[in-house]
Amino acid sequence: MINDDPLWYRDAIFYEMNVKSFFDSNNDGIGDINGVRMKMDYIKDLGVDCIWLLPFYKSPMRDDGYDISDYYSIQPEYGTIDEFRMLLKEAHENGIRVIADLVLNHCSDQNPWFREAISDINSPKRNWFVWSDTDTKYSGARIIFVDTETSNWAWEPRTKQYYWHRFYSHQPDLNYDNPEVREEIKRVMRYWLDMGIDGFRCDAVPYLFEREGTNCENLPETHMYFKEIRKMIDEHYPGRILLAEANQWPTDAKQYFGNMDEFHMAFNFPLMPRIFIALAKEDYFPITNIIAQTLPIPEKCDWGIFLRNHDELTLEMVTDEERDIMYSEYAKHPKMRLNLGIRRRLAPLVDNDRATLELLHALIFSLPGSPILYYGDEIGMGDNIFLGDRNGVRTPMQWSYDRNAGFSRADTEQLYSPPITNPNFHYESINVESEMRLQTSLLHWVRKMIRVRQKFAKVFGRGDITFLEHNNRKVLSYIRSYEGVNMLCIFNLSRKPTYLELTLGNFSGYTPVEIITGVPFPKIGQLPYFFTLHPRSFFWLNLEQREEGAGS
Ligand code: NOJ
Repeated sequence: MINDDPLWYRDAIFYEMNVKSFFDSNNDGIGDINGVRMKMDYIKDLGVDCIWLLPFYKSPMRDDGYDISDYYSIQPEYGTIDEFRMLLKEAHENGIRVIADLVLNHCSDQNPWFREAISDINSPKRNWFVWSDTDTKYSGARIIFVDTETSNWAWEPRTKQYYWHRFYSHQPDLNYDNPEVREEIKRVMRYWLDMGIDGFRCDAVPYLFEREGTNCENLPETHMYFKEIRKMIDEHYPGRILLAEANQWPTDAKQYFGNMDEFHMAFNFPLMPRIFIALAKEDYFPITNIIAQTLPIPEKCDWGIFLRNHDELTLEMVTDEERDIMYSEYAKHPKMRLNLGIRRRLAPLVDNDRATLELLHALIFSLPGSPILYYGDEIGMGDNIFLGDRNGVRTPMQWSYDRNAGFSRADTEQLYSPPITNPNFHYESINVESEMRLQTSLLHWVRKMIRVRQKFAKVFGRGDITFLEHNNRKVLSYIRSYEGVNMLCIFNLSRKPTYLELTLGNFSGYTPVEIITGVPFPKIGQLPYFFTLHPRSFFWLNLEQREEGAGS
């Protein structure tokens, strides 16, 4: 059963997955809800606390479900509402929560709301969307999908007006100035909350309203609306959460916590690329600098920290110089780029370097916030940059070396996407079954680290962070502290070995204990404490006050 701590999300590890990609239970080539149910033991053994499901609602799937045609039903290939209820029940029985993606800003142009709106300019649904006779209004709003769209307006030939869309032109924006829309989306939320969903990952939250003379992002009206939603959650669904997808600069991203009266969580978009930049530059500054800008946040709120997700690794909110570093280090082939970002999975991004993969996980497991893992990254899955859009990072989960990576028994041609067969990442070796057999596999390592993180969930999830001063910019070091527990974390960001002298005077007399193995290090004294570090290595050391004579 799930625990009843209302702050559960602060200690949790999240696991993002697409129903389509996880497991195909009926062998039609497409993953489904029953497939997720069949793999519940895997999810439980992995040790994560909450599944985040990408959109599973009825959709023409022109943006992988972010184009919803019916908010109250499930994509038929994925399953039925009853199966979904069973999924929730079984997840909860296993102590796992489930949050669902909710696309509020826009819907599909196939949604009956839009069909009706374009059937007649006087239709009651007309005002559910944003119309104009010209395509020049709100010119301060940027275009997000720059590789596909040239304008945020699209022409509707039947009723002869332009409609507003921040994403693909087949995704008309809903008009949040219309109270009917605001009410309808709340109704949608209640529908799924009543079914037992544990919260929502709210898609594209900055863009709900449009105002002339602004960039149409993060407007006060948007915040007001989310405050209303939060009130509804607090009053009627305590313990459920709202997680904001607001890809913004730190000051704007932080606003979505409100005064603890908006989102419980928001993705730490500012931090994500800076972790990769810190590695590329072998310099802790990009990380310490951005953490200083993203903290403090209101108590009871938390960042969701992630390395990769189902989209391109977004580089919208970085400087031109930072973007250049990212492209030259991580996207040498033009096909690796999409919009302002990099469409690659985690393992290929770092050339499958095991030490770097471990370091990256150790960072997101110990920096302030709740880690969010992307399915497949725990086994080091590869990608396919030759598939269109972001499909290259959305290929079938690799379960075994059987046909179709054990994902489906359909004919391979029938799969929604080919599995990864690139020699370096071929599913014949990168798969759950093979990695379970090999004690040294990435999967075993990630599982172990999840357990260690859970054991110290409070200090990592809720603790303060203090960066330690020293003179080696290649090493990031901080102490996380919570209720008397002090966890010293040290990371060598460089590709070469290095050493470090730390002044730990405040902890004189304490014994650093390496928490993965339990090995105690020499007691801290008055002199600087000396560390040697392998390339891209890290230590997590619990600073313990041990009885005299307590040995290893
Ligand atoms: C953000 C989602 O993560 C992305 O996949 C989608 O294309 C856009 N929002 C539009 O809904």
